[in-house]
Amino acid sequence: MNESSHPLSVAVLGGTGREGKGLAYRWAKAGYRVLVGSRSADRARAAAQDLRTMLGGGAHVEGLSNQEAAQRAEIVAVTVPYAAHRETLESVKEFVQGKLLIDVTVPIVPPKVTRVQMPPAGSAAQEAQQILGAGLEVAAAFQNISHEHLLRDQDIECDVLVTGTSQQARARTLKLVEAAGLAGWDAGPLENSVVLEGLTSVLIHINRQYGSTHAGIKITGVHKT
Ligand SMILES: NC(=O)c1ccc[n+]([C@@H]2O[C@H](COP(=O)([O-])OP(=O)(O)OC[C@H]3O[C@@H](n4cnc5c(N)ncnc54)[C@H](OP(=O)(O)O)[C@@H]3O)[C@@H](O)[C@H]2O)c1
Repeated sequence: MNESSHPLSVAVLGGTGREGKGLAYRWAKAGYRVLVGSRSADRARAAAQDLRTMLGGGAHVEGLSNQEAAQRAEIVAVTVPYAAHRETLESVKEFVQGKLLIDVTVPIVPPKVTRVQMPPAGSAAQEAQQILGAGLEVAAAFQNISHEHLLRDQDIECDVLVTGTSQQARARTLKLVEAAGLAGWDAGPLENSVVLEGLTSVLIHINRQYGSTHAGIKITGVHKT
């Protein structure tokens, strides 16, 4: 978990929601200092209290406004609905410069959630980079991990594809994937996020077609050394 000598701090913007709370739980359990962010500091504090209760003593989870969480964290994850993506990012733009932003957003546009619909930037993660500028690293990850099992201590049968603006950004994100108890793969530059984000609609379609809730993917034919 350490990149230097202390536990890393990770903000989870929208960490009061389904996916964000699950990731916050897993990262706090792995020893990260987790800063749950929300539009309402009160909601964030309540979510953080829930997580501390679930995790027991020793876990570091704090609830803050999205802005304060982004300001105080070394790594910032974004887990908000696509409709709130731009507004959320604009609200923290000044606080994320020089950091790593991990975008979990899927540009799903209801009601057609089983249809791949990408924004003009190419993907939500590329749009994040456009909104925030070139002064930070952006990675995309976790789009294909259903929140269903994140809050439970069970294995999740889905790999995590990680794209990012540099190899270092992807490597740092892969450490958080591993900390969440998942297998991750370096899936190349941020432009490749279109595949990760689009795959979510395919998995939702498969869930509906076959009566499941958590279809996933596994990379085969590769052995990590
Ligand atoms: N759920 C999954 O299984 C899953 C899996 C993979 C990826 N994702 C992606 O992760 C992101 C979050 O998904 P989720 O299911 O966790 O979403 P969610 O529970 O509906 O919302 C997450 C949080 O976003 C915040 N938010 C900010 N602006 C909002 C707005 N205008 N409307 C509603 N909420 C707003 C809310 O926090 P505050 O009100 O506290 O600010 C909310 O708790 C989405 O982009 C989704 O596509 C989800």
